[in-house]
Amino acid sequence: MDWFAWDFDHPAYFQIYADKAADAALEGPALAALLDLPAGSRVLDLPCGWGRLHPHLKARGLEVVGGDLSTLNLRRHAEEHPAPLARLDLRNLPFRGGCADGVFCAFTSWGYFATEEENLRQLSEAARVLRPGGALLLDLVGRDFLRSSVAEVEGYWLDFPHEGYQERATWSPDHRRILTERRCQGQAFRHDIWIPTDAEVQACLAQAGFRAIEAYGGLDGRPWDAAAERWIYRAVRP
Ligand SMILES: C[S@@+](CC[C@H](N)C(=O)[O-])C[C@H]1O[C@@H](n2cnc3c(N)ncnc32)[C@H](O)[C@@H]1O
Repeated sequence: MDWFAWDFDHPAYFQIYADKAADAALEGPALAALLDLPAGSRVLDLPCGWGRLHPHLKARGLEVVGGDLSTLNLRRHAEEHPAPLARLDLRNLPFRGGCADGVFCAFTSWGYFATEEENLRQLSEAARVLRPGGALLLDLVGRDFLRSSVAEVEGYWLDFPHEGYQERATWSPDHRRILTERRCQGQAFRHDIWIPTDAEVQACLAQAGFRAIEAYGGLDGRPWDAAAERWIYRAVRP
């Protein structure tokens, strides 16, 4: 089984990432503002997870459709934030071309696939479902920030007793992917995510057909900088 089909579809995911529910109050309005679409626009939240950002997209008057692979996340989304939802794979979206004004991709939800072709395919699919002039918002962790945060602890198991899990991060031998192992609820999990450079993100967006690519270095829309914790991209389908 692919790691992303297992790690996110287990109740332990909600336990490990419990603090992301509270983070949504800050992230949601800021990311929705950076997407910068008028009220009434149709936005695909891909992947939507359990919908923690959904109320903030709705608060801007956006018509939101969520999609995710995880039935567990979709079930929680439906209970907590009822909305049109689809179970889907980001590499093959079940939407017709040009149907959306925006695609919203938050919380480092790109780079999960093993090959460059598949990761590019996720962006190409986003471009396909956007109408001309539609925009993608891609919210990623900054590679340099992640490198410096992992540097001191790489390879060591860390205990998070209050949250109830252990974690060990290591870079792949070529330093392109971060492998995050976790033990929680008696199970083992292992995120395996490509963490691209800025040049790689920009090249993939361009290759997927996006233009007018803007890059930000924070939720407040400050200019991109290499050391920023978040690299947030807004790109337009011409
Ligand atoms: C880090 S979470 C982010 C969710 C949401 N964007 C947020 O900010 O809370 C990543 C999500 O991607 C979903 N996912 C992982 N691989 C996927 C795939 N191949 N197709 C669709 N969704 C996928 C997971 O189920 C999970 O809900």
